[in-house]
Amino acid sequence: MPPHEDISEDVVELAKRRGYFFQTAQAYGGVAGFYTYGPQGAGLKQNVEDAWRDRFAIAEGHQLVDAPTIMPEAVFEASGHLDTFDDMLVECAECGESHRADHLIEDAPGSDVEDAEALPIPEVEELLREFEIGCPTCGADLAGEPVEDFNLMFGTNIGPGDSQPGYLRPETAQGIFVEFPRLKQYARGQLPFGVTQIGRAYRNEISPRKSIIRTREFTQAELEHFIDPEVDEPDLDAVADVECTFYPVSEQQADDGEPIRATVAEAVEDGIVESDWIAYYLGLTKRWYDRVGVDMDRFRFRQHLPGELAHYSSDCWDAEGFAAGDWIEMAGFSYRSDYDLSKHAEHSEEEFTVFKQYDEPQTTKQATVDPDMSELGPAFGGAAGDVADALEELAGEAPNRFDAAAAEPAGTVDVDVDGETYEVPFEHTGYAVEEVTEAGEHLRPHVVEPSFGVDRLLYVLVEHAYREDEIDGEERAYLALDSEVAPTTVGVFPLMDKDGMGERAGEIASELREAGLSVTYDDSGAIGRRYRRQDEVGTPFCVTVDHDSLEDDTVTIRERDSTEQIRVDIEALPRLCRDLRDGVRSFDALAEDAPAAE
Ligand code: GLY
Repeated sequence: MPPHEDISEDVVELAKRRGYFFQTAQAYGGVAGFYTYGPQGAGLKQNVEDAWRDRFAIAEGHQLVDAPTIMPEAVFEASGHLDTFDDMLVECAECGESHRADHLIEDAPGSDVEDAEALPIPEVEELLREFEIGCPTCGADLAGEPVEDFNLMFGTNIGPGDSQPGYLRPETAQGIFVEFPRLKQYARGQLPFGVTQIGRAYRNEISPRKSIIRTREFTQAELEHFIDPEVDEPDLDAVADVECTFYPVSEQQADDGEPIRATVAEAVEDGIVESDWIAYYLGLTKRWYDRVGVDMDRFRFRQHLPGELAHYSSDCWDAEGFAAGDWIEMAGFSYRSDYDLSKHAEHSEEEFTVFKQYDEPQTTKQATVDPDMSELGPAFGGAAGDVADALEELAGEAPNRFDAAAAEPAGTVDVDVDGETYEVPFEHTGYAVEEVTEAGEHLRPHVVEPSFGVDRLLYVLVEHAYREDEIDGEERAYLALDSEVAPTTVGVFPLMDKDGMGERAGEIASELREAGLSVTYDDSGAIGRRYRRQDEVGTPFCVTVDHDSLEDDTVTIRERDSTEQIRVDIEALPRLCRDLRDGVRSFDALAEDAPAAE
């Protein structure tokens, strides 16, 4: 098991020096919470997004969409983000720095508060006093400073003037939900169906921190799976034997609670994970993270504590990786029920439902009323209209009350309006029972949402790949990135740039690029230095053209982690390198058949 110490300083320094990621606009002093991916980071990001799309969209048969990042205010009024997407802000009166009050309380020495987000503001203010919490920036006492809800959305104006406010989306999900009436058509109105989107989202974090782990602009890869909760079931068998570490609420809240090792099937059977759909996606996700290079000894699924649940979520599990000295949320798996579609139906002109056809048309009895207002008016005066409405409601809920009144001579139906009871003679209610035949029903789907933070995953991949060792008496730091996601697959070098070796190496680099491989060519400095440079950025294979290459059309391939080298025919290189990248062949298997090289 790798050490759990915080190696983030080394990782962030390497990331900056070798073009993975660095703070944006440092020529102007930098800007907190914004990061730029350099050439290596942008390559890694693209490969990870491609791998996500292959697994969670293509392989699952889900749709892809690409919605705008700015939406009108009405969308976020409906979704609840305008009212409730807040964090607790406390500002230091001394230095003016802003902090998240709930984080300060959870991190205070001696604090055992784990769910400070769930506490009311006066209690948070009291805890700031009780724990004698000082400003993390200048040390000034924060006791007595007011704590307030701070909305995390970035606001803007659409067009000139301020008549049409808009917001940068705080999650890509809303771009899917608002288009549900159209997207369901592409799914031919059939549940279940899933829609995915990879794109930028924005949150005006009070205190962005830990490089790309908590930024103000970030990339999400989200999947909204629309289901009929009564009928649709996931293919649990496909992931039943995936073994995971689960940390449910019950274990987090128990004094001696511990994460539980179990297969997905066991987690469902034992009630550790309540929703089969969430369990399905946890299994799929664990396999995928393992494949792209998350270290499974530093990985777990943790259930949200009640106070952590977002306003739309009824249950949520996070995928967490241990990195930068802490457990980092990399993805959330939320059961959003019909919350979002109901809210958009309430606030818009659309229904946000699908029509579910019955196998056979169904005939049901339906009670109706048609109150005689010429009798109700004189009898009940101004309350007559409300009495009629109450009769209609009662007919739907308790038709037996009408049947009972009809069976009695001069029977009455009693209804309550504003605390007063009105006795309506049965013959004035216009009560009737009709047979209604319906072909189906309008159903509002529930939503299961796997939501991945791409940037956080990138950080975890880089840190989990970070290694130090010694080669020929020299210290080496390198990234053992999986070849499927490594930004560069092959480094091509001439041993020396003379006797035609440079030209031959250049030709090989071009051929490999033509074959769809990401290649870097390097002829500067000693060959050992060139290997180290590629090791440091995580390039899994290096091809070297030497004197023998000019004689027998062979080259050496060196594998990054073992530094082992073999000789192969130049002709076979493009196919070989693609197979190595895609995991179709392993270097070890190749080494068994091919001659070793010095
Ligand atoms: N869509 C879930 C999230 O943004 O956290």
